[in-house]
Amino acid sequence: MDATLERPTTTLPSSSDAKPSVSESSISKPCASAHGNIAPSDADNEFRVVGAEHIITPADLPADKRNWQEAIYAKTHALGYIVLRGFDIKDAEHFQEFLQQELNIEPWNVFNKLKMAGPIITLIRRITDGILGAGDNRSYLNAQLQKLGAIENSVQGPHVEGGVYDKRARYLFMYCEEAPSHWGETGVADMHKVYESLSTQTQQGLAQAQQQFEFTSIKRLNWLERTILTLGKIKHYVRPDENMQMLMDTTPMVCRHPEHQIACPQIWAYRGDTVHQAASDTFPERTPLDPECMASTWQMKWNLTDRTGQPIEHGVAMMDELIEATFKACRLVRWQQGDITVVDNIRCAHWRMNGHADQPRKVYQLQAVPFLASDYQMD
Ligand SMILES: [Fe+2]
Repeated sequence: MDATLERPTTTLPSSSDAKPSVSESSISKPCASAHGNIAPSDADNEFRVVGAEHIITPADLPADKRNWQEAIYAKTHALGYIVLRGFDIKDAEHFQEFLQQELNIEPWNVFNKLKMAGPIITLIRRITDGILGAGDNRSYLNAQLQKLGAIENSVQGPHVEGGVYDKRARYLFMYCEEAPSHWGETGVADMHKVYESLSTQTQQGLAQAQQQFEFTSIKRLNWLERTILTLGKIKHYVRPDENMQMLMDTTPMVCRHPEHQIACPQIWAYRGDTVHQAASDTFPERTPLDPECMASTWQMKWNLTDRTGQPIEHGVAMMDELIEATFKACRLVRWQQGDITVVDNIRCAHWRMNGHADQPRKVYQLQAVPFLASDYQMD
């Protein structure tokens, strides 16, 4: 349950009513372009591509490799995300070796807290995808190393990794073993910059809020599926319709950044229609985009409450503002083979951009340093 998706339940207004279809959207929306009345092109969004400021080569690091971990973390805290380029990482296994042996970083994965072997956690992943009705087919080479989902003509919702859990990883490391020649980037957004761009009312509303996600299974669960929920310590109960309701952790909507004390919204953009519209508006040259598969399948509910547990009014509108602001502020990691993108998973959101299904894209992820989001609730 690590992607960011929604199917509005009856407790939330259905955004599908308000959102035009893809074809209507592309007809009614002007083709804004820096080049006049011509179709938008990739050049219009070239400024979003992550550039030199965030790219770290071996020459930018201390001569003594024992100081690399500290230097990499410091740069990641300062910039939110960095791209390690030119480190001559051959393949996914070499990536894990590099992390563990050269950087002395011990992986820790939010989706495999019990550290099960790769084939077992991959199987469990398939089972939980089946409980929810859709998944991204990610697989585990071992207990820590995940191969991320395949490229599609859709844009994922911006999210902090594991954002439905209180205990999650502070850092993400994504390695590109094979890069597409066009699109298929990873989107990133500095959520503090996003926060600063929000209306004062939304800033204040989100800063004091807590969020919780609930999922409804698409079927009655068998003993194995129930056992997996129990082992995963996911609260659950059987609904009157015999499907299972799963309650995730209650966590701060906005975290205080541990090093810089800045406000960082912990987005887990479950509103698929809003994401689709914001992505289409931000990247008109890529339209029509498909709706994200999981976003149109998962049945879920998002609870935004104050510290006393009372529902916050206009929560959905605030989330939509946050999603739109995130896309406005977004940047794109245009992958090169061998790149490692390091993301501060408190400060930044990330997501998979659209691409061409027939192009190669092999991106692997390791996570490290567990923390409790509830330790960083805003004052
Ligand atoms: Fe992710």
